[in-house]
Amino acid sequence: MGSEMLQGKCIILGVTGGIAAYKAAELLRLLVKGGAEVHVVMTRSAQEFITSLTLQTLSGNPVHTELFNLIQEHEIGHISLADRADLILVAPATANVIGKVANGIADDLLTTTIMATRARVLFAPAMNSNMWGNPIYRDNHAKLKSLGYHFIEPLYGDLACGWQGQGKLPDPQQIFKSATALLGSNDLAGKTVLVTAGPTREELDPVRFLSNYSSGKMGYAVACAARNRGARVILVSGPVNLPVPKGVEAIQVVSAQEMYRAVMEQAEQADLIIKAAAVADFRPLVCGDQKVKKGDSDTMMVELQRNPDILAELGQHKGSRILIGFAAETQELLKHAREKLESKNLDMIVANDVTQEGAGFDGDTNIVRFLMADGNVQELPQMTKQEVAEVLLDKAVVLLDR
Ligand code: PMT
Repeated sequence: MGSEMLQGKCIILGVTGGIAAYKAAELLRLLVKGGAEVHVVMTRSAQEFITSLTLQTLSGNPVHTELFNLIQEHEIGHISLADRADLILVAPATANVIGKVANGIADDLLTTTIMATRARVLFAPAMNSNMWGNPIYRDNHAKLKSLGYHFIEPLYGDLACGWQGQGKLPDPQQIFKSATALLGSNDLAGKTVLVTAGPTREELDPVRFLSNYSSGKMGYAVACAARNRGARVILVSGPVNLPVPKGVEAIQVVSAQEMYRAVMEQAEQADLIIKAAAVADFRPLVCGDQKVKKGDSDTMMVELQRNPDILAELGQHKGSRILIGFAAETQELLKHAREKLESKNLDMIVANDVTQEGAGFDGDTNIVRFLMADGNVQELPQMTKQEVAEVLLDKAVVLLDR
């Protein structure tokens, strides 16, 4: 890493109470050497493991420990730490601090700062391996990840508590690398990215609807990744069970027609549109005011009416925008995806064969191919939806730069 790597960046280093707290000193030294302005926030129990004097000396700034002192503190004045930060890095992060943030508890300076910030937050957990595997911890970890918080996975090894397992804080050098990588990727700064995600629901009567298995995970991963790269992100989402990601402007819709209206309203301001939503092609022609009665017949006809094709319409009024669609196919993946790419006037389409294990609806992974308007095809191995989102955005950045 060049010594100027973090020049101009303000990092809040949160240190919580674990035996690995001593490694925070080396990490702090690397961050300062990298050119960052670093303010350390220690929890009360962190102070049992390492002194604030050590961290104050290494950072060249006063170390913050108390919620209420900070408000009065002259050097900081009214500018809160939360607003100043480009990154909040918590290393080591205990199960306790992660549990608090995941559950909205802000009862000390560190948790308050994390809850109040719009900056990226990177946790480097370190704990006993049983705590790491505890379902309560796993839930908290997964919740924060889905909200766009970042994690560096702990290593497997001998732990201070005498156990062997996963839970060891990675080397400061490794944490430093992750922090700089997170701060470095600002390649969508100044861009507005419109993302659609999730299914639509097409009402049949007041208690029934037609829909599909989309969970929204793919689209939400794209929205979070774009936000992390500095974009303003507008997320138009169908009904899903995912929390609204931090720092993303979310518009909730239910039906394809609502999604159509929301997307058309927002499209004008977008530089890049990524349509991961699984939009219903048809809706019931008639939606009754009352629950449909089954009657005596063994069969029932439901007449369907075509929904607007949002992506096709965007393609007709594309302007200088970059337009990326998804294609969920069950057969002849490339043929059908290419037809959609061409007929909808897209720059790129992300094709997934949703019959493949590890691909498509609901899971945490996907297996995709990128088909470009110039005929190029890139095949990716099975990846997490977050990884797919990153590679997709790498492509989008190239398209935007053209
Ligand atoms: O949400 P997950 O559970 O994570 O699952 C991810 C996914 C499988 C939903 C996603 O990877 C995906 O493939 N999304 C597109 C699904 C789809 O509806 O594909 P399609 O081939 O029917 O549509 C092609 C493109 O046109 C899509 O970008 C779609 O958003 C768009 N479309 C389709 C119909 C319509 N009326 N309007 C549209 O804009």
